[in-house]
This record gives sequence, C-alpha cells and structure tokens, in this order.
Amino acid sequence: MKVQRYDYLSQFERFQEFMADVSRMILDGHYVLSEEVSEFERAFGAYLQCSYVVGVNTGTDALLCSLKSLALRSDHEVVTHANTFNATVAAICLAGLKPVLVDAEENTFLMNTKEALGAITSQTRVLLPVHLYGKPTPMQELIRETEKKGIHLVEDAAQAHGARIDGQRVGTFGVLGCFSFHPSKNLAAAGDGGAIATNEPKISEDLRTLRALGQSSQNNHVLPGYNSKLDSIQAKVLSWKLPSLDIWNQQRRKVASLYRERLRDLPLKFQSWNEGEEHVFHLFVIRTDKRDQLLNHLQSKCVDAVIRYPVPIHLQPAFSQYGWRRGQFPIAEALARELLCLPIRPNLTVAEIDYVADCVRSFLKGHGKKLGTV
Ligand SMILES: Cc1ncc(COP(=O)(O)O)c(C=O)c1O
Repeated sequence: MKVQRYDYLSQFERFQEFMADVSRMILDGHYVLSEEVSEFERAFGAYLQCSYVVGVNTGTDALLCSLKSLALRSDHEVVTHANTFNATVAAICLAGLKPVLVDAEENTFLMNTKEALGAITSQTRVLLPVHLYGKPTPMQELIRETEKKGIHLVEDAAQAHGARIDGQRVGTFGVLGCFSFHPSKNLAAAGDGGAIATNEPKISEDLRTLRALGQSSQNNHVLPGYNSKLDSIQAKVLSWKLPSLDIWNQQRRKVASLYRERLRDLPLKFQSWNEGEEHVFHLFVIRTDKRDQLLNHLQSKCVDAVIRYPVPIHLQPAFSQYGWRRGQFPIAEALARELLCLPIRPNLTVAEIDYVADCVRSFLKGHGKKLGTV
C-alpha cells in the first residue's frame, strides 16, 4: 500500500461547475482585487466571527504586513518561539524588527508561555505565538499579560484554520491573526494565498493600503507598500472550499484519534492539549528517539511521513546574525531531532491508518525505552 500525505483532487467537489466559474472569471477579466476577493474576505470574516479580513499573497506576507501595520521601530522586539516554521521569524526580520526566541514547551511542543512572558523587556512590542500543527496556543494568560503591558498580540495561525479555544477561532484573539492558504494547509488555495484577520477598522484600512503598493486611491501613494494581493482565482478556490473546512477538520480529528488509539501502547509521545481547545491537526506529530530510523522504515514502506522541522530556527544560517547558540533552546532542539509527522488528510481511510500504524508498530516493537504518552 502507498499512503500519501496530500489528495488535492478530493477537495474539489462539483469540479466542472467550479471550472465554469473560473472560466467566466478569466473571460470577464476578473483578475486583481475583484469582487471574488471581497466575497472571500467577507465569508472568512463571518467564519472567524471577526470584523475584517484582508487577503494577501502568502502567509509570510500576512505576517510581514501585520507587523508593518503596527508602525514599530527597528529596536523593537518581537517574542516568538524556536520551534516554528522559518517564515514566522523571517517576517519579523523583513519587517525590520528584532526577533527574540523562547523555547518550546515539553508537552504541547508550542511556545512556553512562562518563558515568553519572562522574555518581555522595555523594547518588546509584540508577542507572536504560533498555533503549530493545528493546536491552539493557550491564550488566556498571554492576553491578560499583554493587555496589562500594552504589547500587541499577533497570532501565526497559518497551520490552524478553524481551531478554537472555548468556541473562539484562533486568529481572532490578538490584534492581528495571520493565515496561509498554501496548498498543503487545512484551507488551501490552488497556489499561494494568505489573509489577515483583525477587529480594528484603522488597521484593516492600513493593511489594504499596504498590500496595494501603498495606494489609498488610484495613483495616490501614501506609504511605500507591497504588491501583495490575494489573487482573484485563488479567492474563488477558497470560497469554494470554505464551507467544507469544519467537516474536513472534524475528519482530521477522527484520523488523529484513530492513530492515537492504535499507537497508544508504543514508546511514543503525542502532542497534548487542554480541555476547551479544538485541535485541527494540520499535522499529526509523534515523538520518538528513533525518529530517523523510523522515518526510513516508513518511507521504505511507501508511507509519506515527513519531518517538521529538522533544524530549529536558532540554528538556521538565515538567522546567524542574532548569535543564537546550539543548546540555547534545548526542547526545540530535542523536538527537531525527535518529531515525525505521519500522513494526515481528511479522507485518510481506516485501512490506510491501520497500515501506517502497523508499520510504526512493526518497527518499534522491542525497540528503545518508553518516552511516555500523554
Ligand atoms: C507556521 C507558519 N507560518 C507561516 C507560514 C508561511 O505561509 P506561506 O507559505 O503561505 O508564506 C507557514 C507556511 O508554511 C507556516 O507553517
């Protein structure tokens, strides 16, 4: 059996109907910031229950434009964590701000809240949690403390469309929530795409100016902006898929729970979460000190497992200017050595889940010490 990570085709029901819509857009010249973009922005805003959504070119641009919209200075600091995708930290640098990293938390693999709050200095202007793998970062304490200190909370929700804490969608807790619609994501374009959610009218207007070459009206450039607009055809794809997102997320949760059930007695550790948090399993990660051998084994059995992320941020050459050292964020380093993502997609079948679990079991049986499950 071959178990793939992605099945893009399955996300297009009524494909002919969809293609007829796209053909019409192309023939009618609906290309740039057309009604299709506004329609998706309204629909995604309604889904998130937030006042404004601004569509941009990528998730990286969503982060970059968000940080730019806060009008900060180059000596201002943004606190985020060492176990994230490169784009989170690259966007901070590209916005001309100073990234400050904290370690991951042992059980959730997300930002260690205590360390993040402890890293706040007089120069800190933004706290940037990442809802990695689809699990919401606990927000209550972060909201309380950042409000007290007048620090902006900006969420990287690129991997967590639809995830909730006590019913509220991630991306709506902070002043700005950033989403990616890269084809791999839970809500995916047929190419690149991104969006920013906010409840602040002034910020949403500034973001619209920023994404459109700094123009407030035709040929009136009020600031040096980017050219970062959500493409009209991608907006159509996203509007087409959005009504299915909650169903797909529910199916991902089902896959994750079957994996956990089948793997529960093995020497593996899983990502833990709190009551009230609704994980959307962009990725299903397992932790084992036999990670590299297990990956080889799974690949030899045609299981499309993958490592996210093998090199933590502080050891990436792109960020060498910040002087971070090996050993500085030991949990992020351990996660980079030990985490493995098993294939997960909404339509993974029980037979496929059983096959992957059997492959993991056959490899781990009799191997190594127990890391403990949560
Ligand atoms: C956590 C995180 N942040 C930001 C991004 C950037 O998104 P994009 O690839 O759309 O630029 C990604 C995309 O993979 C991501 O996973």
